Amino acid sequence: MSDKDRIHSLRKKINYHNHLYYVNDSPEISDFDFDNLLNELIQLEEKNPQFFDINSPTQRVGSSLIDGFETIDHKYPMLSLGNTYSDQDLLDFDKRIKKLINTDFEYVCELKYDGVSISLNYENGKLISAITRGDGTKGDNVISNVRTIKSIPLQLSGDFPSKFEIRGEIFISLHDFKILNKDRELRNLELFSNPRNTASGSLKILNSKEVAKRPLDCYLYHLLGDDIPSTKHYENLQFAKKWGFKISSDTKKCSDINGVIEYVRNWDLKRDNLPFEIDGIVIKVNDIKIQEKLGFTAKSPRWAISYKFKALQAKTQLKGITYQVGRTGAITPVADLDPVQLAGTVVKRASLHNEDQINKLGIQINDFVFVEKGGEIIPKIVSVCIEDRDLFNIPVNFIENCPECNSRLVKHSDDAKHYCVNSANCKPQIKGKFEHFISKKAMNIEELGPKTIDLLFKNNLIKDISDLYTLNYNDLLPFKKDGKKWAQNLIEGIEKSKHIPFEKVLFGLGIRYVGETVSMILCKNLNNVDNIIAASIEDLLNIDEIGDRIAESVKSFFNSSENLLMIDKLKSFGLNFNYQSNVLSNKLAGHNIVISGKFEDYSRDELKKIVEKHDGKNLSSISKKTTYVLAGDNIGPSKLKKANLLNIEIININQFLEIINS
Ligand code: IVH
Repeated sequence: MSDKDRIHSLRKKINYHNHLYYVNDSPEISDFDFDNLLNELIQLEEKNPQFFDINSPTQRVGSSLIDGFETIDHKYPMLSLGNTYSDQDLLDFDKRIKKLINTDFEYVCELKYDGVSISLNYENGKLISAITRGDGTKGDNVISNVRTIKSIPLQLSGDFPSKFEIRGEIFISLHDFKILNKDRELRNLELFSNPRNTASGSLKILNSKEVAKRPLDCYLYHLLGDDIPSTKHYENLQFAKKWGFKISSDTKKCSDINGVIEYVRNWDLKRDNLPFEIDGIVIKVNDIKIQEKLGFTAKSPRWAISYKFKALQAKTQLKGITYQVGRTGAITPVADLDPVQLAGTVVKRASLHNEDQINKLGIQINDFVFVEKGGEIIPKIVSVCIEDRDLFNIPVNFIENCPECNSRLVKHSDDAKHYCVNSANCKPQIKGKFEHFISKKAMNIEELGPKTIDLLFKNNLIKDISDLYTLNYNDLLPFKKDGKKWAQNLIEGIEKSKHIPFEKVLFGLGIRYVGETVSMILCKNLNNVDNIIAASIEDLLNIDEIGDRIAESVKSFFNSSENLLMIDKLKSFGLNFNYQSNVLSNKLAGHNIVISGKFEDYSRDELKKIVEKHDGKNLSSISKKTTYVLAGDNIGPSKLKKANLLNIEIININQFLEIINS
């Protein structure tokens, strides 16, 4: 086969599999095979630049910076929709139409996706422009960004009209949004506030390579043009589905307004379970001829309307603010609310995060506030009803002293939180430290739980974590009826923890900003606790991946004489304070590996150990830093999607073993 034919056949094959993966959500081939096809095409296109095609699937990775977007007139204006909020509003809408139309007609109900609208233009099956709504008459052509969205076909298949327009909504699913923000958190970047703004902001980026990293998706809901296949809206969407567009299967035809009301009710209950956000339902007359007869008002069509769901909000009164002290001494203000029913639960409290948030809301005690339940579990206060304010309002003065130990709070300019720095004597901090120390990822003392910690603490048996190792069987016996077995297990569990490796002990100490990864980095670079104690800020900063914040936190932890005394005691009880590297080779040095899926001959933990033994680093989620994804069977589609978006090499077990054995 000539290069030209192979390129053509590969593009077709890749488009086909891309569609199965991103539109139908049912891939036929493994990611590994998909990548092989794509890599082959990349190489052939590089070798044959004369066959370059902007609509080739290789171009979805985006290209470099552009100066700005071209403004293009919409062929058909992009209007907004009138809103309805009740059954009565819907009945009125139906009545208005029936006044103008004498024949029977159907409605089509669709989800109202909460994203950003886009108008895609196709000619001869190829995407030629992608225009934002703009002012409704003209918008920006963001085609370079839209080409990176894998669920939007660049080349159509089947029997499509030579020229048409299709409109839809670009959005980010809730799951992808979570992953995106997790990745940003890891990279210390500011978090995105919500999926809709992120989708909208992404489309405006002037560098499509960046856009390609955003998990944008797109449902299409309106076909327009002179020779579209049907005179019915619903049927046109089914045609568009065949050409390769992502059309929702939740779209439904209803024979009358009662059917519409039922659809709306049904989705009002079910909307929380959707993988993306919707803010209502769109109701359209199915027959395009009737649509034309009904026409438009100045702002919106008479043949369509949106039903807006009532926001999951409730109004209640702020009774007071309590302040919680975390393990690290961080103070979190929590709103105490007059209990109110919201989306099936009673809301009594809401986090206020920090002083800045309190100031931003301008909230005062006794204010009436709106609480809202979004995608997140903890409700938040969204606004204050200033008009309800009376004489009994009390301005909030953020506390200056710790609510638990009364020591003066400290606030650094680079951190929004206030801290209690009296870590050695402040009860919730001490208890929090114990809970962290015994946790699975640290000393893994399963026999000790928060309740036992509480009990031992209240009875003055433990003050700092070294006291755990002074507990004895007889001390414990009186606390439980028939407590012999319990006491025995506890002592054994504590004893067993003396064999836990140093990197876990260091993590367990609960030094602010020293998570598992940082702990491992410190261990690998400084070997033992004495070197860590002796390290200067400069020494710490010289370590790759250690920044100012961590260095200062480590230094300040080991500058405290109480902490040094505690370390000495722990040493004397036989805990590990030396790092034992069990590295066999450095074949994976510098590599960050995510292991995903099932493997026939290895468990995931075994593979993780192999990675570490060859000096590689295991990462739990895919980010820019990942160098390989080691993929087994049934690897999650979101992981594959993410790896593809970030252009990360995916290897199978054989390739992995080859690297190690090479
Ligand atoms: S139809 C004239 N269908 O809602 C027809 N719009 O308030 C107008 N939207 O700008 C659009 N889901 O961004 C339509 N299934 C859907 C929709 C939908 C979301 C958005 C769209 C539009 C806005 C109208």
